[in-house]
Amino acid sequence: MPIIKRFLTPDDLGKSLRQDVADGLTAFPKTLPPKWFYDERGSELFEEITRLEEYYPTRRERAILTERATEIASVTGARTLLELGAGSGEKTRLLLDALSGTLETYVPVDVSGDFLASAADQIAAEYPGLRVQAVVADYERHLDQLPAGPRRLIAFLGGTIGNMEPAERVSFLGGLRASMGEDDALLIGADLVKEPQRLVRAYDDARGVTAEFNRNVLRVINRELAADFDVSRFEHVAVWDRERERIEMRLRSAQAQTVRVGALDLVVEFAAGEEMRTEISAKFRRESFEASVSSAGLGIDQWWTDTDRDFVLSLVRPSL
Ligand code: AVJ
Repeated sequence: MPIIKRFLTPDDLGKSLRQDVADGLTAFPKTLPPKWFYDERGSELFEEITRLEEYYPTRRERAILTERATEIASVTGARTLLELGAGSGEKTRLLLDALSGTLETYVPVDVSGDFLASAADQIAAEYPGLRVQAVVADYERHLDQLPAGPRRLIAFLGGTIGNMEPAERVSFLGGLRASMGEDDALLIGADLVKEPQRLVRAYDDARGVTAEFNRNVLRVINRELAADFDVSRFEHVAVWDRERERIEMRLRSAQAQTVRVGALDLVVEFAAGEEMRTEISAKFRRESFEASVSSAGLGIDQWWTDTDRDFVLSLVRPSL
């Protein structure tokens, strides 16, 4: 039976949602953080995105993991696998299978307790003999409370590192670094810079799945905070920012409109054409990636890309 530790209650989550929405909707320009996309419907939409022809990152990362799993196992000899933002499980299984020779403990970490509990049960059932210790936590806040132990491999997959602003990224990596022992390693999945047209298509697919995913954050706010966003009056926008080498997703108000957020006693005006940022997805080059990790006291040990050089899995370690 898996053990579940909770550092985060549903009440904490509600509080941070209220704070994020209050801050974001009163800022100029308005923003909403991407972490609130992922309710049940949002998670389903994201799963659907990962199967889109245009959205290559998931397929590429899986290909690299499949190709390099044995090598990951031999260079890390991991006894504990800590997975930040435990996903739907396929990539997890690739790692667990490859690490079976040395692995004792699997620690999935996620903000969603329900999701985590069922994922942990599944894994525990499939891998008898593996100790499964799930942690409900915000990995940006509870890094120091994650289980310690020798030879840990911390996996931060999917390209989620791209969702952070540069400063946020450095402090996150710095926090991780501080929690790491000398024989720990960190496996990061990151999307790479490529032709803008392919990048934009990956975030603005023909069937409009990403558009629905983007608008879903408004549905979450309507339900959780008694707001009255008319979701059909917001258009999906994906733009490539050349200078900062990142995709930005935005929601553009199709007309002038007033939105009420009941739970916050907040009235928000949108101008016609006003754009609200909902996600950044940074794309890396080896140099920009290296700059981020090294300013956090980490160094690149391995740099594994797919044959098209679309995506990278990098193994990074504490640098002395
Ligand atoms: C899960 C954060 C890696 O940035 O590509 C997919 C989320 N947003 N399509 C990404 C996402 C729009 C995704 N990450």
